[in-house]
Amino acid sequence: MTDNLTCRLAVLVSGSGTNLQAIIDSIEAGDIDATIACVISNKRDVFALERAAKHGITVVVHENSGFANRQEYDLATVEILRQYGVNLVVLAGFMRILTENMINAFPNAIINIHPALLPSFPGLHAQQQAIDYGVRYSGCTVHFVDCGTDTGPIILQSVVPVDANDTEETLSAKIQKEEHRIYPAAIKLFVDGKIKVKGRKVLITD
Ligand code: GAR
Repeated sequence: MTDNLTCRLAVLVSGSGTNLQAIIDSIEAGDIDATIACVISNKRDVFALERAAKHGITVVVHENSGFANRQEYDLATVEILRQYGVNLVVLAGFMRILTENMINAFPNAIINIHPALLPSFPGLHAQQQAIDYGVRYSGCTVHFVDCGTDTGPIILQSVVPVDANDTEETLSAKIQKEEHRIYPAAIKLFVDGKIKVKGRKVLITD
C-alpha cells in the first residue's frame, strides 16, 4: 500500500490456520499496519474459523457445492473480496488452485505460502516430496500467485535442514516454524509498499 489507507487483507484457509494465527498475532502486536477484513474458508468446521471468530474477525464459509466449475467459484470469491474492500489476498493453507478469474481481479495482490523451496516440490505433499528426493535442505516460500501451480514470483524464502530421520510430520513442524516468521514479514513488506514486481523478480526496497 502506498497511500495512507489501512490495507485490508482477506485470509483464505482450508485447515488448522496456524499461519492465520501468526498473521493475527503480528497485526495485534502492531507489527503489521493492516486489518483482516475477512477470513474465507472453502470448508466448514475447520479450526481456522474458530481462531478467526475468537479474535472477532468476520468469517465467510464459501464451499464449492453449487458452482458449475472452478471459474464460477472464483467469480463468486471475487465478489466476496470486493464486498469486503480487500487489497491483499493471503492464501494460508487454502487448498484450491485459483483460476484466471481470481488472478486477473487482483494483479500482484494474491500471495501464497508453500512448504518447500520453490521451484522445487510444488503441489501437494511438498514435505514428503523433499524427503523422498533426499534433499539436505528444504524450507518455505512466500510467492505471488499466478495461473500456474506454485510458480509465481518469489517474495521470501527460509531454509531448514532435512535430517536423515525426519518424517513428513517432523519436517512439517520445522518448516511451519519458519512459515510463521516469514509470512507476516512478507505481508508487512507488501503493506509498507516495499515490494515491486519486475517480471519474475520481486524487488524489496528499504
Ligand atoms: C502450511 O504448511 C502451508 O505451507 C501449506 O498448508 C499448511 C497450512 O497450515 N500450504 C500448501 O501446502 C499449499 N500448497 P495452516 O492451516 O496451519 O496455516
